[in-house]
Amino acid sequence: MIVPVIMSGGAGTRLWPLSRELYPKQLLPLVNDCTMLQETQLRLNGLQNLAEPLVVCNESHRFMVAEQMRQAGCPAGAILLEPVGRNTAPAVAVAALQAQRAGADPVLLVLPADHVIVDAETFRGAVVAGAELARDGKLVTFGIVPTKAETGYGYIRAAERLGCNRSAEGRVTSAEEYQSPAVKELHSALSTQHPALTGYTVASFVEKPDLPTAESYLASGDYYWNSGMFMFRASRYLEELETFAPQMLDCCREALEKAQRDLDFVRLDAEAFGACPKDSIDYAVMEKTAEAVVIPLDAGWSDVGSWSALWEVGQADGAGNVMRGDVLTHDSRNCYLHSSGRMVAAVGLEDHVVVETADAVLVARRDRAQDVKAIVEQLKAQG
Ligand code: GDD
Ligand code: MG
Repeated sequence: MIVPVIMSGGAGTRLWPLSRELYPKQLLPLVNDCTMLQETQLRLNGLQNLAEPLVVCNESHRFMVAEQMRQAGCPAGAILLEPVGRNTAPAVAVAALQAQRAGADPVLLVLPADHVIVDAETFRGAVVAGAELARDGKLVTFGIVPTKAETGYGYIRAAERLGCNRSAEGRVTSAEEYQSPAVKELHSALSTQHPALTGYTVASFVEKPDLPTAESYLASGDYYWNSGMFMFRASRYLEELETFAPQMLDCCREALEKAQRDLDFVRLDAEAFGACPKDSIDYAVMEKTAEAVVIPLDAGWSDVGSWSALWEVGQADGAGNVMRGDVLTHDSRNCYLHSSGRMVAAVGLEDHVVVETADAVLVARRDRAQDVKAIVEQLKAQG
C-alpha cells in the first residue's frame, strides 16, 4: 500500500499578489483549472494500491484543503493540522506516525503540494519503481537534471546503479541477481519505456549549497537536483529520525498522541508541536542517511517558485506570451500576463510579468520575478 503524504504548509510569497498567507499558492489554480493541491493528488490517478492521502497543513487552511480534496474526488484520509509550521521534517513525522496507527507500515509517497509535473505518466512510472526500493528499506528521492546553478535546491550525487537485486530476505543487494518475476517484468517494461527509471545509490546529498558550490556541481555533470518528493516506509523514516533528531520525534509523537480529532481533522497538540525543533527533511534526514537512493526523473518537473517559473511551464501563444484570465496583447512578447478580474492589456511589452488582483497589481521584469519577495517583506514591515 502506498500512502500519499501531501505537504501543504508553504506560503509561496514569491507568487504575490495572488499567493497570500490565507490563500497560498498550493490552494490556487495557477496552471490549469485545478488547484496545485488537487493536481498533486490527481496526477496519482492510475497508480495501483493507493491509499487515501494524508494532508499536512496549517490549521487556518483546513476548510479549503478539505473542500478542495473533496471537489477533486479524493477526500483525504486525514488532514493533520499544524498550529505552527515546523518545516517539513516534523510534518512528515506526524504523517508517518498517523499512517502507522492502523497497525501497518505502508510506503509513504511524500509530495509537496505546489509542484508542476507535465508528464504525469512518466512520474507514475518513477513512483512504481520507487515503491519497490522503498519496500526494501531505502529512502527514495527523485532526481532532476539541473539546468542552472540554483542555490534553493538540494543536490544529489548518484553513485552506483541498483540492479533490482535482492537477497533471500528480499532486500536489495548488488547487481543483476534479482528474482521476482512480477517486478522483473515491471522493471524491464519500465526500462524499455523509460531507460532512466532506475535507482542509484546516493554518494552525497547536499541541501542548498552556496553559489560557487552549486556552480561546480552543475559543471561536473554528476549531480541531480532533489525534487523534494520522497518515498520510504513510515518505519524507516521514523528510525532515521530517532537516530538523527530524537527530540523532534518525541515532540511529534506527543503532538499526535494528544491531538484532538474531529471528522477528518487531526489537530496536533499546540504545546507539544510548538516545542518541536524546526528543520527540513533534507537537512534532518536526507543529508545524513546512508540508505538514500535516487531515481532520475525527466517529467517536466518544476517547483513553480516564481512567476518566471510559471511562464516557463505555461502554454505560450506564438509570441511566447503565457496568459491567464481576461488578457489582450498587441505586439508583445515573452510575457506572463495574469488577470483575476479586470482586463489586462499589454502593448509593446517584452519579458515582463503583469499580475492583476482585486487589491494589488504587480508589474515586474521577468528576470527579476524572484525579487517579489522583497515587496512582501516591505508589506510585512508596514504591518
Ligand atoms: N505541512 C507543512 N508544514 N508543509 C510545509 C512546511 C511546514 O512547516 N514547510 C514547507 N512545507 C511544504 C511546502 O508547502 C512545499 O510544498 C514543501 O513542503 C517543500 O517546502 P519548501 O519550503 O518549498 O522547500 P524548499 O523549496 O526550500 O526546498 C525543498 O524543495 C526543493 C525542490 O523544490 C527541498 O526538498 C530541496 O532539497 C528541493 O530541491
Ligand atoms: Mg519549494
